Amino acid sequence: MGLFAKLFGSKEASLPDADLSVLRCDIHSHFIPGIDDGSQTLEQSIELLTAMRELGYRKVVTTPHSMADGYKNTPEIILGGLEKVRAEVKRVGLDIEVDAAAEYYLDHELEQRIQRKEVLTFGDKLLLFELPFLSEPQVLLPVIFQMQTQGYKPVLAHPERYSFWYNDFAKYERLKERGVLFQLNMIALAGAYGPQAKQVAEKLIDAGAYELVGSDCHSMGHVEAMKHTLGRPYLHKLLASGKLLNAGL
Ligand SMILES: [Fe+2]
Repeated sequence: MGLFAKLFGSKEASLPDADLSVLRCDIHSHFIPGIDDGSQTLEQSIELLTAMRELGYRKVVTTPHSMADGYKNTPEIILGGLEKVRAEVKRVGLDIEVDAAAEYYLDHELEQRIQRKEVLTFGDKLLLFELPFLSEPQVLLPVIFQMQTQGYKPVLAHPERYSFWYNDFAKYERLKERGVLFQLNMIALAGAYGPQAKQVAEKLIDAGAYELVGSDCHSMGHVEAMKHTLGRPYLHKLLASGKLLNAGL
């Protein structure tokens, strides 16, 4: 909870809580137990899924990290975990649909995985990927091009979190020109990643750059932060934009 403590002192004017049920589907979270830095047990997964249902979601596409160094999650590992989560959801009688894809870290292995079509996607071949937080990878544009030539639609996770682009907004525009879809981490709008990430997220909303919104929920701390985001004016603006694809997934 310490990470999000600063949210609670926010002095920004607040609107009534937004209704997240209009999104229907969340497309970024870490709810498969014990395979990344999200949920660690089946009980935690159920607690998180219950909270998502209470927030209004009817479906989640959960997206464990997949990277060459670190969480080496293959489709088999993820889908095996999904089966366990689905069985428990059914056993406890929770009314939420659970699907899985992955959050692919753009590293040297990703190109090969795409080449072999060993990637999990959601919707119409939407492929969620993230970048290192320190610098833009040199292979960014070639890998995006490769995704597209293989028939995938790249979705960049939380573009508002990459501080190396904060003073170079043209980099965001360049990705939009190439057809990259952008996914907002909702809690950025409450300042969960700091004031600059919040500002950039708002600027990207003003530019109509986001097609998807996600929770990136790892824990009940994230759920609390989401609740503190519901009154943010920019969340209302994004939900009313008519641009979001969540409800159709
Ligand atoms: Fe994530």
